[in-house]
Amino acid sequence: MSDATIEVYETEGRRFPPLPEFAEASLANDRSLYDEADADLETFWARQARELLTWDQDFGQVLDWQLPFAKWFIGGKLNVSYNCLDRHVEAGRGDKVAYHWEGEPGDTRTITYADLLDEVSRFANVLKGMGLEQGDRIAIYMPMIPELAIAMLACTRIGVAHSVIFGGFSPDAIVDRCDDASARMIITADAGFRRGAPSALKVNVDAALDAGAATVENVIVVNRCDTPVEMTDGRDHWWHEVVAAASPDCPPAPLDSEHLLYLLYTSGTTAKPKGIMHTTGGYLTQVAFTHKYVFDLKPETDVYWCAADIGWVTGHSYIVYGPLVNGCTSVMYEGTPDTPRESDRVGDDRSQWSKDRLWDIIERYGVTQLYTAPTAIRTFMKWGTAEVQRHDLSTLRVLGTVGEPINPEAWMWYHEHIGAGQTPIVDTWWQTETGGHMITPMPGVTTTKPGSACHTIPGVTAELVDDDGKVVTNGGGYLTISQPWPSMLRGIWGDPQRFQETYWSRFPGRYFAGDGARLDDDGYLWLLGRVDDVMNVSGHRISTAEIESGLVDHPAVAEAAVVGASDDTTGQAIVGYVILRGGNDASAELGEEIRQHVATKLGPIARPRSVFIVPDLPKTRSGKIMRRLLRDVAEGRGLGDTTTLADESVVEAIRAGAAAGDEN
Ligand code: WTA
Repeated sequence: MSDATIEVYETEGRRFPPLPEFAEASLANDRSLYDEADADLETFWARQARELLTWDQDFGQVLDWQLPFAKWFIGGKLNVSYNCLDRHVEAGRGDKVAYHWEGEPGDTRTITYADLLDEVSRFANVLKGMGLEQGDRIAIYMPMIPELAIAMLACTRIGVAHSVIFGGFSPDAIVDRCDDASARMIITADAGFRRGAPSALKVNVDAALDAGAATVENVIVVNRCDTPVEMTDGRDHWWHEVVAAASPDCPPAPLDSEHLLYLLYTSGTTAKPKGIMHTTGGYLTQVAFTHKYVFDLKPETDVYWCAADIGWVTGHSYIVYGPLVNGCTSVMYEGTPDTPRESDRVGDDRSQWSKDRLWDIIERYGVTQLYTAPTAIRTFMKWGTAEVQRHDLSTLRVLGTVGEPINPEAWMWYHEHIGAGQTPIVDTWWQTETGGHMITPMPGVTTTKPGSACHTIPGVTAELVDDDGKVVTNGGGYLTISQPWPSMLRGIWGDPQRFQETYWSRFPGRYFAGDGARLDDDGYLWLLGRVDDVMNVSGHRISTAEIESGLVDHPAVAEAAVVGASDDTTGQAIVGYVILRGGNDASAELGEEIRQHVATKLGPIARPRSVFIVPDLPKTRSGKIMRRLLRDVAEGRGLGDTTTLADESVVEAIRAGAAAGDEN
């Protein structure tokens, strides 16, 4: 939905022209995809499915829509690992690099499509040898190493669903997820390199298995960092040993289009994470389509880099499945952007280390597309342009952003300093639940506005609605999706009722995304962030309820309330307010202990930025905590209307405490 009338976008006195030179060179350089999808959505997606994927058996009916349950490409059979690997090798592209992998210390591996196929087949045989069968679920808790992608693809080869658990999560999170999915295996590593040192993983798996996760029969461990680990006889196996003993011959199983591909747990408005279900044919179609068109892919020559973590959906769709199904070369990086290679580290003081790792990688590999998050971009802005200017970034053609609304300043910095004022920026809005991109500019089609995700992709329809569910065509509203799309979640594992209630009941007949958005006079969409009790911290979804349960888990805490306060770098930051149980005295030390307790319980990403010990919490007369007021306090704002409070003095007391620096 390009809008030819908008030739120059002006903001804060600066002008941003559209990018005509790019438009000519791009794939989607006219509106034909939109026109086709507008004419008939099912025909459009059916063509994409047939053109982008190889099917063992063609499908008949395109869509079966029994609101809110969708099935796509009915009767079709295909195998994801075949589509990602075998067919490229069969076409003579076995020597093409699938991943340029770089470890944080600076060690590298070059993995071709033929290499990947060999390793995936062997590992699939290992899984089979341990008794795993079509329909089983297993958990993967690994660092960003090639074995992570290999493990996922091996699952898909034999029809086992994977549930990847982010490496920053705690043993409790492993237990919850394994129990919920009855996972039969955990694949892990001794540790992964992060911020210059090994960060242990296997110990967390051991702790999880001591505490629960009783369905887990076997653990497979990659030796990544050579750190000492305890191996339990009969249960734990070294990856390199079992793989060496396995045959490289494992035919891909033709699976039903609606076969469960994976579960990915994500935060909702309660403390219990939801197992989002994605299936085979529809997911792969939309991920292949968006990866190709949104990044304007030239698979022969591109070196594409999504700098996310495979522990999140972005890594599933745009590090593993999208790039591989499209047969392109990707970069995969293990560590953090502020850790130089060992050979480039000067001294032991991290603060003195250069912060140019990303730019260094882009230059060395000749990266053509970079896909990262606004929080990272804002961090790079703080680090300054000197780090950037030392490198030649002229190979970059498309820049992407995902995870949270991007502020126009960060957009412009990205465009000017990383993109040399030339590359288009695709601000991609989507969710774990949507599986693939939903709202984003299309290079060559869309004239971008800094900070706006612009329009839906072809084949997806979004509408804003007001409190009463009436469609809003100009101004703010709740973001809903009004038609089924191929990579939509098929449900919440084991809880169809929660699926219905969470996404489809607020506005009947519509998928409610949980985000607010605004439509401007030109019909551009501006995402405004979550409208529910989900926080977005550095692009990671965390629910207030989860953190609250972590806080009240501390023996000194009687009651807790958590809000996401805006933060210059991380988008939102977690701020907790706690009331102590009788017999405990408020102190800075106790506050800090409570803060750390959450990190231990839920994982370091859940550690609140601050914990305030307060005498009481602001509640309405019906007993509901007024988070808006707590957010106002956390963000240092005036309080607005407090008349619904049961006790107005409570907020004053909290605010006085905050001002006096009772922050821990
Ligand atoms: C937010 C990440 C604004 C949004 C792919 C959504 C965004 C949640 C954008 C999903 C964007 C993601 N602009 N907000 N471009 N992309 N979000 O499931 O609030 O980890 O609901 O998926 O991130 O987070 P999730």
